[in-house]
Amino acid sequence: MTWKATALTLFPEMFPGSLGLSLAGRALREGRWSLDTLDIRSFAHDRHRTVDDTPFGGGAGMVMRPDVIDAACAAAQAEGAERPLVYLTPRGRPLQQSLVRDLVAGPGVILLCGRYEGVDQRVIESRGMIEVSIGDYVLSGGEPAALVLLDACVRLLPGVMGAVESGEEESFSTGLLEYPHYTRPAEWNGRAVPPVLLSGHHAEVAKWRRGASEAITRERRPDLWARFNENKGGPASASTRPV
Ligand code: ADE
Repeated sequence: MTWKATALTLFPEMFPGSLGLSLAGRALREGRWSLDTLDIRSFAHDRHRTVDDTPFGGGAGMVMRPDVIDAACAAAQAEGAERPLVYLTPRGRPLQQSLVRDLVAGPGVILLCGRYEGVDQRVIESRGMIEVSIGDYVLSGGEPAALVLLDACVRLLPGVMGAVESGEEESFSTGLLEYPHYTRPAEWNGRAVPPVLLSGHHAEVAKWRRGASEAITRERRPDLWARFNENKGGPASASTRPV
């Protein structure tokens, strides 16, 4: 069955955006996944097609109305199998590869893209939304975050990455960041490739890469490094996955 994404947005033109190109675009055309947009404004019910209002309690900005958002969610859910509803917001839990894997294993996802100050809390709760952030910075809307999340998902769908080894060795799958890569020329601008990589010794190469992965993880991501070490010795399955 096709993995199905629906974006609820005030800017449907932002989709498929970058996902119409490259790997994701080809997979979209091949029917490995589908992408629909629902224009949130079309679920407004007044003459002015109002989707937001001022916050109770005062303060800056506008809040998206729960009745309008709920109607958009209902319309998306009505299209086939029940899918998780993800609300993209800087307040959400950080997007991690483990959530991406979980989403890919299901029938698809509904993505709510917020604008303004946010969405009325009651509809977030009543619809059981999963709140997800793509990082500790504030975008002007959830659309680019939805594109990021979808990109991460789509590349894991069967047949999308082709020859690439289903991402088993890449960053976050082993619990470590990836080792550095080199290609020809062997010497470039006075910079040599680490000699072991030219040696043809597979075991030595693997050892070097492992050491480089560990060093770079320790240096750049003490949080991942700590988790990696906690999980050492445990079962070499889900528990060693950092994210
Ligand atoms: N909307 C605005 N900023 C965001 C972020 N960092 N992650 C997800 N959604 C957002």
